[in-house]
Amino acid sequence: MKVLIVGGGGREHAITWAVAKSPRVDKIYAAPGNAGIADYAECVDISVMDAENLVKFAKEKEVDFVIVAPDDPLAAGVADAFLDAGIKTFGPRKNAAIIEASKAFSKDLMKKYNIPSAAYETFEDAEEALKYLETAPMPIVLKADGLALGKGVLICNTLEEAKAGVKEIMQDKKFGSAGNKMVVEEFMTGREVSVLCYSDGKTIKPMTSAQDHKRAGDNDTGLNTGGMGTFSPSPFYTDEIADFCMKNIYQPTIDAMKAEGREFKGVLFCGLMLTPNGPKVLEYNARFGDPEAQVVIPRMKNDIIDVMEACVDGTLDTIDLQFEDNAAVCVMLASEGYPVAYKKGFEMKGLETFKDKEGYFAFHSGTKFSDGKVVTNGGRVIGITALGPDLVTARANAYKATEWVDFENKYMRHDIGKAIDEQ
Ligand code: AMP
Ligand code: GLY
Repeated sequence: MKVLIVGGGGREHAITWAVAKSPRVDKIYAAPGNAGIADYAECVDISVMDAENLVKFAKEKEVDFVIVAPDDPLAAGVADAFLDAGIKTFGPRKNAAIIEASKAFSKDLMKKYNIPSAAYETFEDAEEALKYLETAPMPIVLKADGLALGKGVLICNTLEEAKAGVKEIMQDKKFGSAGNKMVVEEFMTGREVSVLCYSDGKTIKPMTSAQDHKRAGDNDTGLNTGGMGTFSPSPFYTDEIADFCMKNIYQPTIDAMKAEGREFKGVLFCGLMLTPNGPKVLEYNARFGDPEAQVVIPRMKNDIIDVMEACVDGTLDTIDLQFEDNAAVCVMLASEGYPVAYKKGFEMKGLETFKDKEGYFAFHSGTKFSDGKVVTNGGRVIGITALGPDLVTARANAYKATEWVDFENKYMRHDIGKAIDEQ
């Protein structure tokens, strides 16, 4: 089987690693891929948004199976382009990817189908939003409607901050057209858990849980980022909570999408908050999380192609989805200054150390080849993942392995998975 993976970050590296393990796969292409993905795949320089050339390439190479991994191409209909060309493709169609691409859509869906989430109002007019905020309880959460690299969410403690937030999102358009509409949401408290689920449009199967650390600095300080590290499983996500979520969140969401004529096939990522009043949905994503994928995928026992193909074929009910009884921690090595301004192009040293180490992974996020050397090429550079029999060991292993890689301006958080110690 020939497989094409669309994307070029750490999530796609983890997916490529799993695809390469499948005995069913003979050849992997990645568009555009990166310096780590190149270990397993032939990387082709086609943009993830260039549907026309991606489909042309897949046809030329007689690709049997395509995986569209990132949010932007899914929201733009790149999976549709492959599917309409008759190519088996994992990833939701545009009309289903909207569950991530529009926060107003997802909030309306949850309200209509009684899926637990924070109370909210939607605004298309800044003046009306400002009027509403005058009497709203603080803290309050402002969310740009569209895709904003995980950064379009502002938590405001005072009316003044909220007013400034409306200006940023709706008037200054800090997140571009994502801010044409804005959701104002009740502030919730509790533990956050990410649960990624496979779905074929009817059946939904949750994977093992994970937790992301979104803020740039230690102890959750600084700006929101795409994710500075993850651990899996979450000790706070008990069997009882999992049962509740299956009955009240996961299956109802898939059923709701079907009822709306938006059958969801792919990975539905449920960002949950375990509030004192029970689990509630913070957000949905229409894809694997990054860096959640880097801790969840290495723990999966199944052949990833079998599972993804079952999602496309509508036979997920026949799959016995299983995860190892172990734990994983991923520490993101970033460029100093991320997510604002940072330098790139620095040579990376020590990557070969990972080659013969079982249970240790260096999943490339922002890297490229330059003169035959691997250099940094992004804010998030490389995710160092380690397995262990339990979370505390996996965490110690991951931090040990962060020392094996070096590059100028290397930056990381030092408290990834710290919550584990509270158990
Ligand atoms: P989102 O992109 O919607 O997941 O939001 C990013 C982050 O903002 C979440 O991971 C939470 O930490 C925080 N957040 C979002 N919505 C709320 C809310 N209603 N109450 C409290 N925190 C929130
Ligand atoms: N790590 C959060 C996300 O992928 O959206």
